[in-house]
Amino acid sequence: MNHSQHDRNRWAILLCVLPLLLLCSSGVPAREPGKLANVMILATGGTIAGTGATSTTTVGYTAATVGVDRLIQAVPELKTVANVKGEQVFQIASENMNNEYWLKLAKRVNALLKQDDVDGIVITHGTDTIEETAYFLNLVVKSKKPVVIVGAMRPSTAMSADGPINLYNATILAGSEAAVGKGVLVLLNDQINGAREVTKTNTANADTFRSWELGFLGYMQDNKPYFYRQSTRRHTADTEFDVSNLDTLPAVDIVYGYANMNRLPIDAFVAAGDKGIVHAGVGDGSLARPAVEPALIDARKKGVIIVRSSRVGNGIVARNGEAKDDELDFVVSDTLSPQKARILLMLALTKTNDTKAIQQMFYTY
Ligand code: SIN
Repeated sequence: MNHSQHDRNRWAILLCVLPLLLLCSSGVPAREPGKLANVMILATGGTIAGTGATSTTTVGYTAATVGVDRLIQAVPELKTVANVKGEQVFQIASENMNNEYWLKLAKRVNALLKQDDVDGIVITHGTDTIEETAYFLNLVVKSKKPVVIVGAMRPSTAMSADGPINLYNATILAGSEAAVGKGVLVLLNDQINGAREVTKTNTANADTFRSWELGFLGYMQDNKPYFYRQSTRRHTADTEFDVSNLDTLPAVDIVYGYANMNRLPIDAFVAAGDKGIVHAGVGDGSLARPAVEPALIDARKKGVIIVRSSRVGNGIVARNGEAKDDELDFVVSDTLSPQKARILLMLALTKTNDTKAIQQMFYTY
């Protein structure tokens, strides 16, 4: 083979492997330098799409009234950081979130992320249940491409509305390679939180989201994401859950623990046919005796899966600590809040009724 033939062959080999070289370790193709990311904005309602009577109305406004096109038009700077398209998936205040909306949203997100012309997704959402939607998607999205959920604490009509800057930052984050493989992210107030830990902590303040002791993942600053940590728990493309063929999820409810508690809500949920109950216990997931523990034992005997969680907000619920979980065949929630334990239990029940397997899922996700 002469020199020029040899060079041609080397070029041919390089052109063949180039697409592979462009695949970063996450399996998501690296973007060509200088090219804007294609970001889809899925709108679902919330205060970010809310309107108040005056510019000083920051409570008592109406959530979920502004459509996705107006949300995008209100932030012309979006065009400078991504090629954005919008879609209204539904329009609700997020206290009305339910399993059916979650399934619809997850299916749409998964369909869009399969497209080569979608690099990332922003979901605009009410803040009241944003943490639950984020965790649900964190378990069922089948892609490593960024999914960023964003909300606002002040309606779009308010003085110093936080929606536009949050949407701008979320769009940058969803189009960034730094966010690939990080799981579903929640972004408000320049703080990037992971779906598993994030929770709303103040009813009205713009600085409301915390990941408490486990900490948030990073900041948005000066048009860039800065990550400092990432979750060690499995998520998105690495989970065993698949909702593509589901129209409903198993019935699971939460029973809140408090002094002087009685067994009525537990019995009512069992009678209603629940497949699982999450008990938001006091302290380390403790169960009141004699009112609550016998009711949960009775429920378990009827086949209902019992998860002991805690209303405290931080810390591990110790297995065989405040209850004999092995003997009673209960599951503990690890560090998951009751509302997130409910989500994992619903998804777990789509796979198995085996309490050992379910316990393992609580230590995995
Ligand atoms: C909602 O969750 O839809 C209302 C509250 C908010 O978005 O801040």
